[in-house]
Amino acid sequence: MAWAEPVEDVGPNALVGKVLRQYWHPVSTSADLEPGKAKPLRVLGEEFTIYRGAGGRVHILGPRCAHRYTWLHTGRVQGDEISCFYHGWRYDGTGQCTLQPAEAAGLAEKVRIPGYPAEEYAGLVFGYFGEGSPPLLPHYPQLDDPSSSVVAWIRPPGVWPVNFFQIMENSCDPVHGSFSHFGSVPAWRAIPEISVEDTAYGMRITALRPGQKERVTRFYFPNLIYTEPIETGGTEGDEQISTATKSHSFAWHVPIDNENSLYFGSVAMTSPDEAFLSDPSELTESDLSEIMLAERPPVGMVEEDWVAVVGQGALADRSNERLGRSDVAVARLRRMWRNAITELSPRAPGTPNPSRVEIRPNI
Ligand code: FES
Ligand SMILES: [Fe+2]
Repeated sequence: MAWAEPVEDVGPNALVGKVLRQYWHPVSTSADLEPGKAKPLRVLGEEFTIYRGAGGRVHILGPRCAHRYTWLHTGRVQGDEISCFYHGWRYDGTGQCTLQPAEAAGLAEKVRIPGYPAEEYAGLVFGYFGEGSPPLLPHYPQLDDPSSSVVAWIRPPGVWPVNFFQIMENSCDPVHGSFSHFGSVPAWRAIPEISVEDTAYGMRITALRPGQKERVTRFYFPNLIYTEPIETGGTEGDEQISTATKSHSFAWHVPIDNENSLYFGSVAMTSPDEAFLSDPSELTESDLSEIMLAERPPVGMVEEDWVAVVGQGALADRSNERLGRSDVAVARLRRMWRNAITELSPRAPGTPNPSRVEIRPNI
C-alpha cells in the first residue's frame, strides 16, 4: 500500500502528477475532433476544453470562461477561436481573451485563461500540461515510415476503470500472455523466460518461448509501451502454431484521473494485420458485466486484459501482493518510477520519503 498511494495520485500537486506533467500525453484521436467542434477533456485529474479550429488546428484551454465561469466547451468555435455560450467572451488558442461584446473596450486584453500546447502525431492529439515550455514531442521511426499505414485508436471499451499504472504493469508482464491470452494467442501458451535491460528511454523486456523468436517490448518512460512485430511458430500438443504480426504497436496509458484511464494506441502496419484489425471496436456494458461475473469467458485480447486488470480493483492493493521471479519487469517499472519521484523530492538522509514510495526487496 505504501508504494501504491503515490502512484495513484495523478493530480497537479502530487509527485506522480508532477512527473507525468513533464511529458506529452495523447488526449484524443485526431479523428475524434472535428473542425469547428469543442469538447470537454479530462486528463491527469483535471478538466480542460479541447477544440479544433475551423482551419484544423487543435487547441487546449482551461475548462471555464473567466467571466462567470461557465463551461467553455459549450461555446461556439469561430475560426480559430472559441466564444463562450453565456455572454460571448471570445478566446484565442492560447487562452487570451480577444472579445467581450458587452464590455468597454480594453478589458479583454487583460484577461487570459490557461492555454496548453497541443500537437498532432501518428493519428493522435497530444497535450502538454506541465509548466514552462514543453520538450519536443517525441517521434518514432516506425510511425514515420512512409511505407507503413498508421492506425490510431482508443482501445475498447474506452475508459478503463482502473489506475493507469495497472494497465502499464500488465503490458510489462509477458507471463500473463500464457494464461489470460490462452484462448486468443495459442503461440504464447508456453511460459516465457523474461529478461530486462535498462535503457536510456526506459527498459527493454524480452520474452523467449521455446522454439520461438524472442518477443521484445520496450517501455518508454513514463507511460508508453512499444511492441515489435513478431513472427512465431511452434507446436502445442499436435497443433501447429503460427502467429505473425506485422505491426509496430505503440500504446500510451493515460490517466483520466486516479481511478480511470485511457489506452491510446497507434499502430504502424507494414501489411494489414488481421489480428489487430479484427479487435472489437467496442464492448457494451453488458459484455463487460457478463465477463466480470464469469457468466461467459472473455473472448479476444481486449476482454482478456480487461478481466485481469479490472479484476485488481480500481486501485490495486499492493500491500499484500507476492511478487515472484517472473515479475522482474513489473518490479523494474516500479523502481524507475520511484527514482523519478525521488528526484522531484530530494530529502535529507534518514528522513522519511515524502512520497511514501516503498518497494519491497527486488527479486
Ligand atoms: S460566463 Fe462566459 S461570457 Fe459570461
Ligand atoms: Fe494482455
